[in-house]
Amino acid sequence: MRIVLFAALATLFIGFVPVDVKAAGGEVKLDHQEWSFDGVFGRFDRQQLQRGFQVYREVCASCHSLDYIAFRNLEAIGYSEDQTKVLASEYTIEECCDDQGDIFDRPAIPADYIPNPYPNEQFARASNNGALPPDLSLMSKARHGGPDYVYSLINGYPDPDKSTPEMEAELMDGMYYNAVFEGNQIAMAQQLFDDLLEYSDGTDPTAKQMAKDVAAFLHWAAEPKLEMRKQTGVRVLLFTFVFTILAYFLKRRIWADVES
Ligand code: HEC
Repeated sequence: MRIVLFAALATLFIGFVPVDVKAAGGEVKLDHQEWSFDGVFGRFDRQQLQRGFQVYREVCASCHSLDYIAFRNLEAIGYSEDQTKVLASEYTIEECCDDQGDIFDRPAIPADYIPNPYPNEQFARASNNGALPPDLSLMSKARHGGPDYVYSLINGYPDPDKSTPEMEAELMDGMYYNAVFEGNQIAMAQQLFDDLLEYSDGTDPTAKQMAKDVAAFLHWAAEPKLEMRKQTGVRVLLFTFVFTILAYFLKRRIWADVES
């Protein structure tokens, strides 16, 4: 019996131990944060996601698209149907074409995807010194460290007072030093500064707070089904636990007469 209990507990334990994917690679030291969605019981903090969406909308959206998110998807982060209608209506969609064959503009509706800031890649590159601001929908899943990477990247610019002459000397034209980006030179300038915007829930908008909120929001964008996945995982583990014990008693019963 002891062995069975041990096996069952071991199953549970292995399932519950957080796997540290951040350790892999290990070249750059990321600024690891506590996330509400960490661990097996992790859940998104809806208020934080809404703040993150605000940062995306007011800062990042002028350069970065978010192709896989439609306005109606924002209901999952706590906006009501009416609120998503209002949010959508602030955007304009270019539609082709009216009866005369002309392109026309219309306000977005909840079923529309968040519009791309640039009409095409050439335009995007021309506006960014040749670099392409990537789509951010899956960014948090595409880089080692996920939200810690995004957080560290947007916070990875040197303090202007502390930046050393070597950092500046090595930079190519139109590039900025970044402690986390590969090669330490990035075509994106520092974006977040304290008090850049005002949060409607009264949270203090420090650069770090905004970075954390937008990183959490981008993690939701990349993995909107995270909560359901974790809940299913917990149920599967509990089921395995109970099943192991049942299997043990069943085995004892079947073999009861054959005991030597
Ligand atoms: C003025 C335009 C501009 C704004 C605004 C902007 N970015 Fe960027 N971003 C870029 C460009 C250009 C690149 C590509 C950099 C490169 O390849 O060197 C980039 C790259 C990135 C990357 C990818 C880094 C990688 O590992 O490939 C992330 C993540 C990112 N930006 C996040 C953000 C977030 C979050 C915001 C809002 C807080 C933001 N950006 C605002 C222009 C911008």
